[in-house]
Amino acid sequence: MPQTPTKYNNIQVALHWLVALLVVLMLFMGSVVLAQIPNTDPAKLTALRGHMVIAVVVFVLTLVRIVWRRASRQPDHAETGNALLDKLGIAAHFALNILVLLVAASGIGIALQAGLPTIVFGGTGTLPPDLSIYLPRLVHGVLTKLLIALIALHVAGALYHQFVLKDRLFRRVWFGRVVSK
Ligand code: HEM
Repeated sequence: MPQTPTKYNNIQVALHWLVALLVVLMLFMGSVVLAQIPNTDPAKLTALRGHMVIAVVVFVLTLVRIVWRRASRQPDHAETGNALLDKLGIAAHFALNILVLLVAASGIGIALQAGLPTIVFGGTGTLPPDLSIYLPRLVHGVLTKLLIALIALHVAGALYHQFVLKDRLFRRVWFGRVVSK
């Protein structure tokens, strides 16, 4: 019978922290910088270029993460001693992956509908006065707020494991030799 590892492997760990860092960066960049610059300001094109390139990388890395996770052995879901919380944890992990993909997909939707690749990278044409005329822009705005809420729940759950249950959960998502049980 195949043995179950007690932690994630180093590639899973690296992908987890890299995607986490880039998603937080994109959320910050999107709401604090990008959405605040008027479309008439030339700085908007620079901000859009950065946001779009990094966010497409996030999209691809999330797909790689999901495939790599399915292809490699992984530890059992961390338990809390409460069946409902355990189910919530499993659902939150699933929803996080789906939501990141949907946020990125809706961003790609705005880009395609507004012709952003030509304007932002090709230097041809001008931005419409407001991207909110496109449905994917509204979806992107709502989904990013949901993503922020879900990340907050995810972090709260991880801290609950680490500091209340004291089950050293963070060791499972850090670099090191994989030991099986
Ligand atoms: C995980 C990936 C992504 C995250 C976390 C993210 C995050 C954000 C956030 C927080 C906003 C501001 C929303 C608001 O305040 O209503 C935003 C706006 C935007 N994002 Fe993304 N985004 C992602 C992917 C993408 C992709 C892949 C594209 C295009 C290729 C894109 C294009 C845009 C555009 C065009 C805006 C609107 C800017 C405006 O209306 O001024 N995003 N994004």
